[in-house]
Amino acid sequence: MPKVPELEKATVRIQQPERVLGTIRAIKEQGINKLQVISDFDMTLSRFGCNGRRCPTSHNILDNSRVISEDGKKKLRDLLHYYYPIEIDPNRTLEEKRPLMVEWWTRAHELLSQQKIQKGDIAQIVRESDVMLRDGFNELFDQLHKYNIPLFIFSAGVGDILEEIIRQANVFYSNVNVVSNYMDFDDNGVLTRFKGPLIHTYNKNNSVLQGTEYFQQLSTRTSIILLGDSMGDLTMADGVPSVENILKIGFLNDKVGVRSSRLASAPAFPRCEASGDSGEGQAAVPVI
Ligand code: TMP
Ligand code: MG
Repeated sequence: MPKVPELEKATVRIQQPERVLGTIRAIKEQGINKLQVISDFDMTLSRFGCNGRRCPTSHNILDNSRVISEDGKKKLRDLLHYYYPIEIDPNRTLEEKRPLMVEWWTRAHELLSQQKIQKGDIAQIVRESDVMLRDGFNELFDQLHKYNIPLFIFSAGVGDILEEIIRQANVFYSNVNVVSNYMDFDDNGVLTRFKGPLIHTYNKNNSVLQGTEYFQQLSTRTSIILLGDSMGDLTMADGVPSVENILKIGFLNDKVGVRSSRLASAPAFPRCEASGDSGEGQAAVPVI
């Protein structure tokens, strides 16, 4: 088996090392013309933390910005503090979580839609935020572009914000496609609502991709690298018509101890094969 130095790092946990190495070898043998990458955005392509502080999600960038009233900020923060622990609670089933996530997203989008956010302010809001892309993002985007490998960003965040982040980082290349929650603006460029279908952490699968022919067009790309940080991200490749090799890489940003011991022990998580560092630096430690 070939050694992969990145996998030797202390922050990487792998349930079945031989299987992961076998998958990497098969992907290499199939070559770049067969490869596509599918990635989550928030806390996967963007960083979870920096210097002991949380970095914002695409929703948080808006929530914390100067265009939201103090009252709006408090209400959005209350929603986050109530629903985020539910999102990451390893003791609740997906069936329990799904309706609660719909509730969170719906309430947050309603609050944001009352704030008269201007389309023309988005670029400045992103520039003024603390958002950071994960270390190595340049290499990832540049290499995928150079070799014409499609990168599909599947995000339950805010599409307009995340597109602006990658635009400002100069990596929004032609091989990048985004499916996310997009804002709907009126004729004066004021946010009135979010377009459907609503994408939340636990419906990132084919159900929200109906009618987009994206994966059909890429049907010859049967090797997949999938990147995510939530259990909901594991289903992001479900719409791919023919999968021959898939490497699923999960970033254990939060509750690292609990989540990695579950990975190691649980048949319930058989396909989450490798995990990387937290984006916080070297150690895979929770930041909040
Ligand atoms: P994703 O990374 O799976 O695409 O999910 C987006 C993240 O956004 C998820 O971890 C929850 C978070 N979020 C907020 O931070 N604020 C919000 O108002 C909402 C609805 C979600
Ligand atoms: Mg995420």
